Amino acid sequence: MRKVTLVDVFKHRITQKYLQRSGIHHAVTVAGYALEMAVEAGVDPDLATKSALLHDMGHYEWYRDGKWDYEEYRKHDIHAIKGAERAHKLLIRLGEDRTVAKEVSLAVLLHTDSYLPFELNGKRTSLQEVVRLADEKDEQPGGLHHYKQMDKSEAIRILHQLDLEVDQADYENDVS
Ligand SMILES: [Fe+2]
Repeated sequence: MRKVTLVDVFKHRITQKYLQRSGIHHAVTVAGYALEMAVEAGVDPDLATKSALLHDMGHYEWYRDGKWDYEEYRKHDIHAIKGAERAHKLLIRLGEDRTVAKEVSLAVLLHTDSYLPFELNGKRTSLQEVVRLADEKDEQPGGLHHYKQMDKSEAIRILHQLDLEVDQADYENDVS
C-alpha cells in the first residue's frame, strides 16, 4: 500500500503554492500520460505519476515589466533544480518513503536538460524517460500548456481516479 496518494500530494499547501505557476492543468495531464506510459514501459506507476505531477513545481515568475519574457526566462532557468528540492521536501513532510522521495526528486531534476550544458539523451532511467515523454506530450509552443485552466475540484477528481488506477496496477504487479 502506498504511504502517500496523488490527492494527498496535490492538496498540500506547498503543492498548491507552487503548482499555480506552472499550471494545474499541465501537471494533472502529464500525470495521466505518465501513468499510461509507465504501465506500458513496466515502470513503477506510483513513482511516475508523482514525478509527473510535481515535475514543474520549480517554476517561478517569468514576467518582466509586467510581460512574459520567455527568452529571458529560459536563459536563467533552473526550474528543474528548484523543483527537485521542493518535491523532495514536500514528500518527506507528507511522510513519504525516503527512497520514493529521492527517486521522484531525481525524475524532476532530469525531466529536461534544457538548463544543462550537456544532453541527457540515453542516460535517463526508464522512470526519468517516462516523465520526460509525458511532459513532452502535453507541451505547446511558447509554453502555452502552462496557461490552460483546471479547477481544483476537477484536478482532485482526476487525481483520485489516477490513484485508484495506480493501486490497481500495483496490485496486478504484486499478484503476477
Ligand atoms: Fe512541463
